[in-house]
Amino acid sequence: MEFQDVVDRRRMIRDYDPRPVDPALVDRAIRNATHAPSAGFSQGWGFLVLDTPTDVRRWWSTTVDPASLDQPDRWLTGMMRAPVVIVPCSSKAAYLARYAEKDKAASARTSPPPTGEDRWAVPYWHLDTAMAALLILQTAVDAGLGGCFFGIPPDRLDAVRGEFAIDAAFDPIGAITLGHRARSTGSSGSAARGRKPPAQVTHRGSWSVD
Ligand SMILES: Cc1cc2nc3c(=O)[nH]c(=O)nc-3n(C[C@H](O)[C@H](O)[C@H](O)COP(=O)(O)O)c2cc1C
Repeated sequence: MEFQDVVDRRRMIRDYDPRPVDPALVDRAIRNATHAPSAGFSQGWGFLVLDTPTDVRRWWSTTVDPASLDQPDRWLTGMMRAPVVIVPCSSKAAYLARYAEKDKAASARTSPPPTGEDRWAVPYWHLDTAMAALLILQTAVDAGLGGCFFGIPPDRLDAVRGEFAIDAAFDPIGAITLGHRARSTGSSGSAARGRKPPAQVTHRGSWSVD
């Protein structure tokens, strides 16, 4: 698929048909994720892959109330049909370690050089992992499949960590369902809300608008 088609066709898919996903596609999605840029080439990311019916069920029972699981709404019904869930995780520790290395310490262009978290205007570990997550979504589109990035309820994070034995140095930044789109997935949320036109979000030279 042409790159522009991948970009134009990508939208979050929240309803899947139950066909399994070729494991090679999951491998390609992760491989592509590792081609995301990362600050200092820190690569402070890790991807929990849940691609068996049992593991996917564990995901939903860990992140959703039993009552909602018994009577899933439309969102949950569609999402639970996805045969694959990938949980991108970011590691702040990897950035603290990488930026303490000699070349990075020397490259600070302020005096005194920033230390610890002052080094970053925004959390690069989340930024980089989010870029990797986009590559997973784009890989799905390129293969004719669909994906949806979605949030993990904050009060379920500890349960997720425990259930899937996530390394303490890593934080899940969200989760991605992957699968074949259900036929019913026609119009998108983004279409209903309307995508902002480039002119509205472009501030050339300065932010002020006329
Ligand atoms: C950080 C982030 C969190 C999101 N969380 C959710 C979510 O919890 N549930 C959901 O259905 N979609 C979630 N989305 C998807 C957005 O709703 C979606 O990207 C947006 O409506 C634009 O639609 P599109 O991606 O289909 O173009 C999230 C997207 C991002 C980037």
